[in-house]
Amino acid sequence: MCECFLETVLSRSSVRWFKSDPVPDDVLLKILEAGIRAPNAGSSEQWFFIVVRDPEIRKKLHDLLLEAHEFYATRVLKTPLPPDKVGKWVQRIREGMYLAPTYIAGYVDLRKTTHVVEFTGAEKIFAMQSVAAALENMLLVAHALGLGAVWLGVPLLLKNKFDELLKPPEGCDLQGIIALGYPAETPKTRPRKPLSEVVRFI
Ligand SMILES: Cc1cc2nc3c(=O)[nH]c(=O)nc-3n(C[C@H](O)[C@H](O)[C@H](O)COP(=O)(O)O)c2cc1C
Repeated sequence: MCECFLETVLSRSSVRWFKSDPVPDDVLLKILEAGIRAPNAGSSEQWFFIVVRDPEIRKKLHDLLLEAHEFYATRVLKTPLPPDKVGKWVQRIREGMYLAPTYIAGYVDLRKTTHVVEFTGAEKIFAMQSVAAALENMLLVAHALGLGAVWLGVPLLLKNKFDELLKPPEGCDLQGIIALGYPAETPKTRPRKPLSEVVRFI
């Protein structure tokens, strides 16, 4: 394996502040191509992606991201964030956190299914995992190409509102949104638990 690939994986961090410069088409296509090279269950490619670049839709999407993060902080967590922290987070979002020149929404696409009826649940899980693998490929290639990105899960908490805005094809189910652009911050690498805590060798 090329050491530089390992370096790419180890040095990626979520980026939440972006420059307004657009992501060039050829760069965006490379990221999307890398996404759909991900392993996918049954080679059935049950995924669909919506790329948002339109300024008006991006603005509405950003407004929804503010709402979804506030909802997460105040209504979803077992221990909600204290009001001052929520206030600061909301303020930072208003100031432009998560505002990106491009968003990529990833969907499970179950318009064509392959499993018998008692295993449709497993088919959905397989498809969700395939979309997740694609999104991760996109994050890594974005980082390798000098862009920054963050995977956003909170849209799932207000899925209907995001669907109303992005209008995915019938049968497509939102799994996550990547905010993508040239980084306007250099975030520190977030620590991880030691391997000894999360791995068991048998
Ligand atoms: C499934 C998933 C959902 C996430 N949702 C959000 C989100 O809604 N908002 C956000 O700011 N970060 C989100 N993140 C990014 C994580 O917060 C981030 O990956 C984690 O803190 C580790 O930091 P790192 O990516 O810089 O290593 C999400 C990541 C994943 C994998």
